[in-house]
Amino acid sequence: MKKFSVIGNPIDHTLSPKLHNYWFKKNNIDAIYEKQKLVESDLKNYIFQIKKKKIHGINVTVPFKKSVIPFLDELTEEARKTQSVNTIYLEDNKILGHNTDVGGFETSIHKSNINLTNKKVLILGAGGVAPSIIYALTKMNVSKITLSNRTKEKAENLKNIFKEINIIEWGELSKFDMIINATSLGLNKEDKLNFNFSLVGKNKFFYDVIYNPLETNFLKTGKNLGNIAINGKLMFIYQALLAFQIWHKLKPDVDEEVLGLLDQWLELVF
Ligand code: ATR
Repeated sequence: MKKFSVIGNPIDHTLSPKLHNYWFKKNNIDAIYEKQKLVESDLKNYIFQIKKKKIHGINVTVPFKKSVIPFLDELTEEARKTQSVNTIYLEDNKILGHNTDVGGFETSIHKSNINLTNKKVLILGAGGVAPSIIYALTKMNVSKITLSNRTKEKAENLKNIFKEINIIEWGELSKFDMIINATSLGLNKEDKLNFNFSLVGKNKFFYDVIYNPLETNFLKTGKNLGNIAINGKLMFIYQALLAFQIWHKLKPDVDEEVLGLLDQWLELVF
């Protein structure tokens, strides 16, 4: 039986084991996927088990997406450019680090029937997930990527990597075709971003990376102002699907059943 896991800290609330184990059953794969809470000093030994084939694939979540990098033999283009790894596996006896958040975001946009060609996009937040979103957007022919973060220095650090982005002050707002909340504000139901979102216009896209709660105050406000709201559920599912495809050379189904199950799991876990 092959073994897979997701590592992070905290790790209690992850839905990855439920989703992967569900897909194992559906596809008759003899494997198990577990969650593993680690501390930084465990990373090296834990990841080395990939080389020994004791573990066959690892997903990485907060706060280790960057700190696993020294223990990997090679990075894919997505992982290198974003300095963020969420999927680890063995290929040609090398431990490879990949980032499926990039493809997960991209796929979520396509599946939501959104075309961002020549569109202006604002990203709020410069934390762990921001480089993946910026990198995905750079491949989508958007006209302009603007970044705003409470701590401006972190936005400026990202501009050193992605030269094409434009930085604005936290709280500043004008017309955009899409606004993406990539901050952690919204994870608590009462969290609120104090922006005058009516300045953005109507019929725009409000995208939140958060999927729990399914509708953050940011999305509620966007909707109330006449915009289209998209939560992070699809991004979560497709980053998992892309890891699954790499590990098992098989494309699992994303259908009404799995989307409904995810809602149920969210209610149970949170
Ligand atoms: P990290 O900063 O360790 O990468 P993260 O969860 O990936 O953690 O990122 C959190 C993001 O949410 C950051 O952009 C953070 O802004 P700062 O860089 O200024 O900390 C943002 N964030 C969290 N709480 C916030 C708040 N109350 N107001 C505005 N932004 C907030």
